[in-house]
Amino acid sequence: MKVLVIGGGAREHALCRSLSLDPDVSALYCAPGNAGIAEVAELRPVDALDGGAVAALATELGAGLVVVGPEAPLVAGVADAVRAAGIPVFGPSAEAAQLEGSKAFAKDVMAAAGVPTARSYVCTTPEEVDEALDAFGAPYVVKDDGLAAGKGVVVTDDLAAARAHALACDRVVIEEYLDGPEVSLFAITDGVTVVPLQPAQDFKRALDGDEGPNTGGMGAYSPLPWADPKLVDEVMELVLQPTVDELRRRGTPFSGLLYAGLAITGRGTRVIEFNARFGDPETQVVLARLRTPLAGVLLGAAKGTLDAVPPLVWREDAAVTVVIASHNYPETPRTGDPIEGLAEVAAEDGPDAYVLHAGTRREGDAVVSAGGRVLSVTATGSDLAQAREKAYKAVARVRLDGSQHRTDIAAKAAEGR
Ligand code: AMP
Ligand code: GLY
Repeated sequence: MKVLVIGGGAREHALCRSLSLDPDVSALYCAPGNAGIAEVAELRPVDALDGGAVAALATELGAGLVVVGPEAPLVAGVADAVRAAGIPVFGPSAEAAQLEGSKAFAKDVMAAAGVPTARSYVCTTPEEVDEALDAFGAPYVVKDDGLAAGKGVVVTDDLAAARAHALACDRVVIEEYLDGPEVSLFAITDGVTVVPLQPAQDFKRALDGDEGPNTGGMGAYSPLPWADPKLVDEVMELVLQPTVDELRRRGTPFSGLLYAGLAITGRGTRVIEFNARFGDPETQVVLARLRTPLAGVLLGAAKGTLDAVPPLVWREDAAVTVVIASHNYPETPRTGDPIEGLAEVAAEDGPDAYVLHAGTRREGDAVVSAGGRVLSVTATGSDLAQAREKAYKAVARVRLDGSQHRTDIAAKAAEGR
């Protein structure tokens, strides 16, 4: 099978890496990709938001499966265009992707499906905003209704800041603050059958100790030794299956990857948000642990035959990924800096540790930074402590002027805290 992956971050590099190791994949393409993906897939230029262009490329390549990585193309209807061209596609329709594209829509689906989530109000006027902020009190949680590339959510004790963010958006969801550790649980679904993956934890803040601004994600690990072993079954029953069933009932079945961002609160597990695609950087650690070849699973979801796919097989290993970000990320990241040390990681640390590329591109013989999050250094080990040690050893070999990374990814979990 020929596979075309759409996107160009470390998530897509992780997807391409897994697909390149799958004996059923005869040719692998990625559009637009990045310098690292170019080592495992053939790159093609494309406007990832243009469904017609993506469908035409998939047709030209003779792709038997298209995998759409990021949310923006999904919300723009790229999966619909590929499906309309008769090509199986992993990723939801634009309508079903509203689960991520509109927080108010997601809340409505959750209410209808009885899925536990924070109590919330959808507000469009300053009066409604003030009433909602007053009703919940601090800490205030204010969410832009639409897609905002990770910048739409403000959690603050500062009433003026909460109000200012709310008034800067057309429509906001204001909700109850959820206290407790966060877990990302992904499920692959064809709209009927739901297959959960292994849970992971993401580190959203820029600095050690969960300080500093929110980011796209600075690292992740899996498994979660501290989590209740029944967590996956519980979330399947209370969240994932009911949500998939509700979207099918509405006539807008969701196929692809359903990402549940969860808070484990004192009063039970609650959904913080849904995403309609693989998470980044959690995918890097989840796929590092998946033994089952990936293409057949994604194709099963794309074709509606997931019930015939054998149960997933996981490695006992733990996985850790550490994001190396550019100077001044997340504010105004500097790009164009040369990256050195990549060959040393490959020669000295492989195959258990490897570098997945996010924002990189080739400039002659050099690889240079081309985005905020630049690399996602990933390692597996017999436990989290060993995976961490291997990941940070590889991180230390990478040289990128002005770069930053967190030093505490999976540290607490590795120590059994
Ligand atoms: P999002 O951009 O939707 O991923 O949200 C960013 C982050 O805001 C989440 O990972 C949480 O840490 C935080 N957050 C969102 N909603 C809540 C909530 N209701 N209570 C506490 N924290 C929240
Ligand atoms: N890791 C958070 C996200 O992918 O949205």
